[in-house]
Amino acid sequence: MGRKKYNVAVAGATGAVGRKLIEVLEKRNFPVSVLKLLASKRSAGEIISFGGREHVVEVMKEDSFDGADIALFSAGASVSSVYAPIAVRSGAVVIDNSSCFRNDPSVPLVIPEINPGDASLHKGIISNPNCTTAIMLMALYPVYKAAGIKKIIVSTYQSVSGAGMKGIVELEEQILNISKGIKPEMSVFKYPIAFNLIPHIDSFTGTGYTKEEIKMLNETRKILHDDKIKVSATCVRVPVKSVHSMSVTFVTEQNIKPDDVRDFLRGSKGIKVIDEPDKNRYPMPVSAEGEFDCFAGRIRKDSAFRNGISMWICGDQLLKGAALNAVQIAELLIK
Ligand SMILES: NC(=O)c1ccc[n+]([C@@H]2O[C@H](COP(=O)([O-])OP(=O)(O)OC[C@H]3O[C@@H](n4cnc5c(N)ncnc54)[C@H](OP(=O)(O)O)[C@@H]3O)[C@@H](O)[C@H]2O)c1
Repeated sequence: MGRKKYNVAVAGATGAVGRKLIEVLEKRNFPVSVLKLLASKRSAGEIISFGGREHVVEVMKEDSFDGADIALFSAGASVSSVYAPIAVRSGAVVIDNSSCFRNDPSVPLVIPEINPGDASLHKGIISNPNCTTAIMLMALYPVYKAAGIKKIIVSTYQSVSGAGMKGIVELEEQILNISKGIKPEMSVFKYPIAFNLIPHIDSFTGTGYTKEEIKMLNETRKILHDDKIKVSATCVRVPVKSVHSMSVTFVTEQNIKPDDVRDFLRGSKGIKVIDEPDKNRYPMPVSAEGEFDCFAGRIRKDSAFRNGISMWICGDQLLKGAALNAVQIAELLIK
């Protein structure tokens, strides 16, 4: 790719991630020549503005990727499984937000701050990691690099937009209905999410863990190229609109202090420390929403594990957990 501007297709342009992809391309001045916005026939004809011009959303078809250099996919795994290979055959490099190819050994799984070199090994498709894994690793990788990490125990607090636009609509409708004494209706989540927590994201496996929890183990290992690291996750849906949060305890190889962790993080890009308990300052979804950076705080020596550190992490999963990371991968490709 030696040209100055690139033809970019966004597959799933009207979704929660797709809309952020368009925003991030614009905010980061990605050199776009032609932008093609694709979705299903449900939203074909919708107008979305980019670069001061209105763009009409088109129905995704087999020839939609003709002439595209980069195809950013966020239309779900079943759509990726059919259309990503078509886009590759049309000559595009695919950056896929779905889980479709993440476990495929021939497909790199990339966080540009961590394993940028893997992107160049692609054979047409690069996967974007699971949103919670990406945010967790943004805070843990600087420690991993400096002091080694052997095991991670994490409980997540995942926002409703992690289930797409329809997740946000369901939370907002339920809050209105419950406040008026009307019984909440469910379609996205199995139980009411308003005024509730649901310890169940993606389907259960025979191990007692859900697929979302297993993704945190498998994808951490793939991104770090470390098959020994242990990850035990409990993933919980919470009534927050955007931003995934998590409580993490990890065990390091070297004995380090909370101040060392703060120093490692302060020297790293994409992660900021907000950790002033005496001033009641720590990361929260309301302050992390819309931010490109992830945030860590409540950093302390863990009282249960030798060489253990505990901390609290927040990150906008539609950005670093999806759209921003995907655009950063595209930036690596054109470098
Ligand atoms: N939400 C997150 O936080 C997040 C984070 C990381 C990764 N992801 C992944 O990103 C993908 C998209 O998630 P999302 O949250 O953005 O979902 P979403 O809000 O439901 O959006 C889905 C998008 O895909 C389009 N689409 C669905 N079926 C299609 C089809 N048959 N043909 C063409 N387009 C189709 C939809 O178009 P219509 O408007 O026409 O229906 C919409 O633009 C998923 O694989 C998800 O796992 C999501």
